[in-house]
Amino acid sequence: MYKLSVLILIASISGVFSLVASADSSNTFNRMLKPQAPANLPPAEDGLHDPDNPGTHMLQPPKEAFEGLVKAKWGNKVDWIKSIKTKKISPRHNASDAAPKPIIMNLNIVRQVKGSMPDVVFPHDRHTLLLACSNCHTGIFIPQKGANQMSMAAIMLGESCGKCHGAVAFPITTSTCKLCHSKPKAKNSVLKRSVTGS
Ligand code: HEC
Ligand code: HEC
Ligand code: HEC
Repeated sequence: MYKLSVLILIASISGVFSLVASADSSNTFNRMLKPQAPANLPPAEDGLHDPDNPGTHMLQPPKEAFEGLVKAKWGNKVDWIKSIKTKKISPRHNASDAAPKPIIMNLNIVRQVKGSMPDVVFPHDRHTLLLACSNCHTGIFIPQKGANQMSMAAIMLGESCGKCHGAVAFPITTSTCKLCHSKPKAKNSVLKRSVTGS
């Protein structure tokens, strides 16, 4: 009985009033998060566009637009980097002029991570494929290795990498940790930050 009332309490705190969290399916509710909304709903149903505006119904539904792109398990279910690398899409650098090409900077910044997670590699090449330097420098990051405070907490609160990751770029989920934490820890590594080209 004690167990059940704790579950009811947790369920009501998290806004789940029907008793989805019964004793034999104790993992069906997620501690703090709302259940994930289905990805890529048509514009009129996505809660972002005004369904009463006729323009909304003229937009191409994302499911149709994303057909044939490389699939991912996270976010809007598209692996954008692989879709570009395999030439499924070739985004324009300038909306009104097809000529300008992005200036791709090949500089990886390695950030040593406290604890057991693999180190974080920030790849400039993939970002400059899509973004201008001014998207990050200096509003989000001072362009100097180690000059910026970064932590998972800040990222989850939408700061630092989280200004984009979880908003317009792949989100933080258990299947994306390794995209950022991609460099296995060096044996006997000392806590310092380093920069390498790739
Ligand atoms: C998506 C964000 C982002 C974009 C876009 C970006 N950078 Fe960076 N840049 C970073 C981060 C993160 C660091 C590492 C900062 C740290 O370690 O504290 C960095 C570091 C640097 C550094 C310091 C390297 C060193 O050895 O100290 C330079 C220089 C730099 N960026 C130049 C550029 C230039 C030039 C462009 C455009 C071609 C660019 N960046 C685009 C995020 C970005
Ligand atoms: C200004 C926006 C912005 C910021 C800030 C930003 N990113 Fe990104 N990042 C992107 C976009 C856009 C992509 C490509 C789309 C995608 O993969 O979702 C990307 C892709 C990546 C990739 C490539 C993944 C792959 O599939 O190869 C890695 C790794 C990454 N980001 C790590 C970071 C880290 C670490 C930080 C913070 C130090 C950071 N990013 C900050 C926008 C940003
Ligand atoms: C968008 C890139 C990105 C993703 C995705 C990401 N991390 Fe991180 N993580 C970072 C950065 C940047 C740091 C700070 C590194 C530093 O101290 O310079 C960090 C730091 C950490 C730390 C060290 C403690 C702290 O908060 O600074 C842990 C633990 C960690 N991450 C776990 C995870 C786990 C688990 C996941 C997947 C659920 C994950 N991270 C996904 C970028 C990312």
